[in-house]
Amino acid sequence: MKKNLSLLTLFLVFFAIACTNKPVQTTDGTSSKSKDLFVLFEEDPNQKAFFSDRKGVIGQNGMVASAHPEASKVGVEIMKMGGNAIDAAVATHFALAVVFPFAGNLGGGGFAVIRDKNGKAYTLDFREKAPLKANRDMYLDAKGDVIQGLSLLGHLASGVPGAVDGMVEIHKKFGKLSWEKVVQPAIDLAEKGVILTDREALGLNNNKQTFKKVNGENTPYFMNPENRDWVKGDVLIQKDLGKTLRIIQQKGRSGFYEGEVADLLVNEMKKGGGIISHEDLKKYHSAWREPIVADYKNYKIITMPPSSSGGVALVQLLRSVEQYPLRKWGFNSDSTVQVMIEAERRVYADRAKWMGDMDFVKVPMKELMSREYLKKRWSDFNFAKATDSKSIDGGTIPGYESNETTHYSVVDKEGNAVSITTTLNGGYGSKVVVSGGGFLMNNEMDDFSIKAGVPNMFGLLGNKANEIQPEKRMLSSMTPTIVEKDGKFLMAVGTPGGSTIITSVYQTILNVIEHGMTMQQAVNALKFHHQWLPDRTVYEANAFSEKTLNALKSRGYIIDAQKGTLGRMDCIMLRPDGTLEGASDPRADNTSVGY
Ligand code: GLY
Repeated sequence: MKKNLSLLTLFLVFFAIACTNKPVQTTDGTSSKSKDLFVLFEEDPNQKAFFSDRKGVIGQNGMVASAHPEASKVGVEIMKMGGNAIDAAVATHFALAVVFPFAGNLGGGGFAVIRDKNGKAYTLDFREKAPLKANRDMYLDAKGDVIQGLSLLGHLASGVPGAVDGMVEIHKKFGKLSWEKVVQPAIDLAEKGVILTDREALGLNNNKQTFKKVNGENTPYFMNPENRDWVKGDVLIQKDLGKTLRIIQQKGRSGFYEGEVADLLVNEMKKGGGIISHEDLKKYHSAWREPIVADYKNYKIITMPPSSSGGVALVQLLRSVEQYPLRKWGFNSDSTVQVMIEAERRVYADRAKWMGDMDFVKVPMKELMSREYLKKRWSDFNFAKATDSKSIDGGTIPGYESNETTHYSVVDKEGNAVSITTTLNGGYGSKVVVSGGGFLMNNEMDDFSIKAGVPNMFGLLGNKANEIQPEKRMLSSMTPTIVEKDGKFLMAVGTPGGSTIITSVYQTILNVIEHGMTMQQAVNALKFHHQWLPDRTVYEANAFSEKTLNALKSRGYIIDAQKGTLGRMDCIMLRPDGTLEGASDPRADNTSVGY
């Protein structure tokens, strides 16, 4: 009996190993098992590949990649104190709300993708919700026209915040350190002050007039004690925010959604014509959702289902180009870029038509991601000529450009991995600072389709699936993602960027998997973006060689150089030697810290 048992055990072990390592046949007929990974990327002398030559940060025990050096340091300190990646992520989140008010937040929301040390995946949707008093036409005038700016600036633009509940939920489920300990570093930063970076000083100065317009003279963010513009090196102390954080530290969820802080928030809403009520706050709960787990070749993509469109769209994009030899064609060669653009065109048209909050509308996720469906969508593709977006659906709309929102990735020494994207929507959200609470409110209501056929601030269209309803979540593009290879964690990926989030994550993953880049190279790599409408491709300066540009233009593609940059990635990869590579974007203050 004993002998039989040990034979059975032996068989099961062999079987498990055989399954894990089984080479997967790819659609171009090759076996892709590990052969492409970590093969060094070779730069083509005719094709500039990188925005910068920044090198990745290597860590043995843990890594935090975030939008701000102080926030990343906080996360690592928490891990050094014995916390896991989830503790570190929560501490990083609260720290970002203090040191990076541009997008870090208490008054916003977001999405968390978690892969625990045993390989089990989870996703938490802590996206904001429309208030109970919201209605479909709340941003339209009597004639049915959109009232410009109403969904973007001021009190009526805010959805019910989800961030604090989200942090409480992930900490409750996975945290090792006490809640008190993980919130403390943010309190210290708020009370002792944070040294402003150039970028943060500029952001506050640039928004000074808008802060005044929305909040009156008493907004803490523009009240420089010396009554001048902020400059790099100034210390920003946020006493009210510190007090709010202390209450959250003492009371957890109820410290934000009930009691003193809730009173301040609701009073602020009343003062400025907003509609978020005590009932809205009490009723808000984030939602654990079944993660999207989809294969791309022999990688596993673990990502976010709706209310973000990001996960479905990412899988659609990857699978649309799976049939092509991108590595052979080369990074940003004309053929590579062409098939990627054509995939983007079709996928963003699907996004507009099908996607919305799954608690309210049925999103045909499986169908949209199925290879049969994607093959049909590809049937009108022609290498000789760009597809016309109008032939796919819709009309023409104005442009989009944005780098708001923020993403952080955390991996600990046990192998827990966290990928979180969170936002206030626009930079500093609705610009409303809750008086006495010291935190900014989101302007996430603009992510609803406020009128069918009218684009949001990112130029994205939507229709019925994403129309406003009380307690519904507005559709997002946030794409926090974890990639697995051979049953093991490979990378945690994500970025801000509004509608460009999905395409930046898509390119970064392909840069590693198809082009053999390191994590940092993939982040540094120059990027481009197409979103169906407007029917044009934008690209970062130098992203396309003359040859690529000419070839694409001759096939009818409308291509414009982007004024700014694309993406602010914060990613982590497990290297073959078992160390972690933190890769934060050189395009802003983003910093990886490892240990
Ligand atoms: N607010 C940007 C997004 O959720 O996609």
